[in-house]
Amino acid sequence: MTYVITSPCIDIKDGACQDVCPVECIYEGGRMMYIQPDECINCGLCLSVCPVEAIFEDDATPVAEAAFKAANAEFFGPAVTGWGAPGGASPDFVSALDHPLVVRAPHGTTVVP
Ligand code: F3S
Repeated sequence: MTYVITSPCIDIKDGACQDVCPVECIYEGGRMMYIQPDECINCGLCLSVCPVEAIFEDDATPVAEAAFKAANAEFFGPAVTGWGAPGGASPDFVSALDHPLVVRAPHGTTVVP
């Protein structure tokens, strides 16, 4: 299991989730944050602080947001950043890139569960 960041984060990037994550597994992309699924320890702190309710347990992700399960993982793969599992967010692991799903997302019309 892991947690997943979904469309309400797009163009918001509040950052509260990153502040509370005890293992620094939340990384900044161009338009949203992404959770590294292999580094997430499933504590759920991030879910409790996101002001726009963008974060879900993977098994509880709304159907309309299901594509974000793969998008979070693929952000770290060769098609986007190629970072793999960097071992913790830091200034060296901030990107202006996004998963194609997010690049294509219209501005101001994200799906709010
Ligand atoms: Fe995004 Fe919510 Fe975190 S808006 S940056 S998932 S606190």
